[in-house]
Amino acid sequence: MEIDIQAMAKRDRYLLMTNMIVPRPIAWVTSMAADGTLNAAPFSFFNVMSATPPVLGISVGDWKDTVRNITETREYVVHIVPEEMAEAMNITAIEFPPGESELPHAGLTTFPSRKIRVPGIAQSPIHIECRYRDMIKLAADGEENYWVMGDVVHVHIDDAVWENGRIRYDLLKPLGRLGGSWYTRIGEETLLQMKRIRYADWKEGKVPDRASEKA
Ligand SMILES: Cc1cc2nc3c(=O)[nH]c(=O)nc-3n(C[C@H](O)[C@H](O)[C@H](O)COP(=O)(O)O)c2cc1C
Repeated sequence: MEIDIQAMAKRDRYLLMTNMIVPRPIAWVTSMAADGTLNAAPFSFFNVMSATPPVLGISVGDWKDTVRNITETREYVVHIVPEEMAEAMNITAIEFPPGESELPHAGLTTFPSRKIRVPGIAQSPIHIECRYRDMIKLAADGEENYWVMGDVVHVHIDDAVWENGRIRYDLLKPLGRLGGSWYTRIGEETLLQMKRIRYADWKEGKVPDRASEKA
């Protein structure tokens, strides 16, 4: 199959991109409107942009409440979605009108942040406090996407998923996004460990075996 992506209808292009680029992590974002309304929404056009400086990026289609809040009040919290919070996360994706918080609808409660005013979601074990850094507008065919970057200023991790300085993926069970309405889960049985290969070892034919072990 050869696909001329530029000739595609917008909807088909979206389906292709979201079917190919998988699995995607989900940023579950809380942000605050100027009037104090707390907003929550998931974004899977999301990743770490840089570790030093620590910067996260999300891409938001249209001028949604989240972008308006982040650019106005300049603070937000990115959460990782544990599998058991999948349904609650999905409720926060409903287009509630501005002024109406998604949190009570999804049965979510707040957790105070350390360095910013916007609180996090108590039911998520990982809270990444961010301050707005920059935004790049990507526009074509009457569509607008806002690529929002934020500096990570503080991180909270629930001790229940933290062991020896590492996150236990098998306990966190982060939800991943596929195309359409599909998601993927991470559990002990799906983990695969594979070590990086140094050039010197490669030359000597030393290639480590795949080793699956508790993360
Ligand atoms: C799993 C999931 C991932 C999503 N990812 C994105 C995304 O990357 N960008 C986007 O603009 N909308 C995305 N959406 C849709 C938004 O969450 C939805 O439009 C939401 O209502 C926006 O909230 P807000 O208007 O309060 O900012 C996603 C929805 C779901 C369920």
